[in-house]
Amino acid sequence: MQNPTHIQGVSIADLADEFGTPIYIYDGEKITHQVKTLQAAFSAVPLKIKYATKALSNISILKLIRKAGAGIDAVSIEEVKIGMMAGYSAQEIMYTPSGVAFEEIKEAVKLGVMINLDSIPLMEEFGQMYGGSVAACIRINPHIMAGGNLKISTGHKESKFGISIEQLAQILETVATYKLQIVGLHIHTGSDILDAEVFLQGGNVLFEAAMQFPDLKFLDFGGGFKVAYKPNDIATDVMEVGKKVGEAFHEFCKQYGRQLELWLEPGKFLVSESGYLLVKANVVKESPSVTFVGVDSGLNHLIRPMMYDAYHSLYNLSNPEGKKSIYNVVGYICETDTIASRRELVEVRAGDLLVIKNSGAYGYSMASNYNSRLRPAEILIWEGKAHLIRRGENFEDLIRNQEILDI
Ligand code: LLP
Repeated sequence: MQNPTHIQGVSIADLADEFGTPIYIYDGEKITHQVKTLQAAFSAVPLKIKYATKALSNISILKLIRKAGAGIDAVSIEEVKIGMMAGYSAQEIMYTPSGVAFEEIKEAVKLGVMINLDSIPLMEEFGQMYGGSVAACIRINPHIMAGGNLKISTGHKESKFGISIEQLAQILETVATYKLQIVGLHIHTGSDILDAEVFLQGGNVLFEAAMQFPDLKFLDFGGGFKVAYKPNDIATDVMEVGKKVGEAFHEFCKQYGRQLELWLEPGKFLVSESGYLLVKANVVKESPSVTFVGVDSGLNHLIRPMMYDAYHSLYNLSNPEGKKSIYNVVGYICETDTIASRRELVEVRAGDLLVIKNSGAYGYSMASNYNSRLRPAEILIWEGKAHLIRRGENFEDLIRNQEILDI
């Protein structure tokens, strides 16, 4: 993994001068490259990519991903609407809710997107309202433990997501009762999945269940491809997954008697490595056992280290070749706010710019105003130029919705 000073010829340090810090920077070429890589890996099957919008939902990024040939997976009605603003047609959008109010389902049906039913009560309510007049998909929980850690594992027995594969008989009964038109089956087993076998295992669950559904048009394998976060980290070999899953899928389609589409919902794979969170060292503080670098950002902008113990590589842009020391890089939030622990960095001085890598996925999209801090700007590097795709918040933005009582 490299430590770039420039992205598509644009100097990162110049971006700090122009837009200040902290800022999120995205490399549009990298995103397009990732879409193409996945398309190539699955070229043997009729593939549809449904980008997991939740990873990074800036409208310009969504437009870029659409231009590269993908659709989207949305998990809230707001994501559906944002997707439509970005130019996605209803047919290009899969809506995968998790225990939402039926009102939201009705709104999504009105908008014409594909609904992914995630519980038997929802199947029943859907059936009572629409019968077989609106085609839908069913999210199955395949009972597979996969993913980087428990918080991001979603396909195991104790997970709230989907309908247990053990309840298949009940699912079929509900389909029959309401004459539901089921055109897709879906699984998503987790995030940070390294092993190609997990996708095959998931596939087998889908293939077996699919034989009971005569009207299918697609099988959706979800997302979860692992990207490299650490130097020398291993990433999912998508070529291998594409080959193995592709072959198994062909076999299945022969058995099923019809060629179906294969859908994928990558988030991290498409946008994680494209993103950099650029921050500035406010202070370098020596304590008896640790040297802290306090930066002008924190868990309000990038929560992954504190929420998942996630490792994000980072480097000192301002001092690329000095002597190295061990630091704890910490945020300015009034909580334990460790971005990187015991990390070797080239000597950091107050004012130095640090670049936090892999910040594209679940960075800005999970950012908050905690500690009444402002969310940063987002910059997209596209065709060799820097574009401000979201301005940083100001104090007005922070208090905009408050109704201040006269007391
Ligand atoms: N499809 C569904 C239905 C999902 O729930 C998710 C992610 C994805 C696709 C995309 O997964 P990916 O390809 O990005 O691994 N905030 C956590 C990850 C949570 C993912 C939740 N679901 C993190 O920062 O690691």
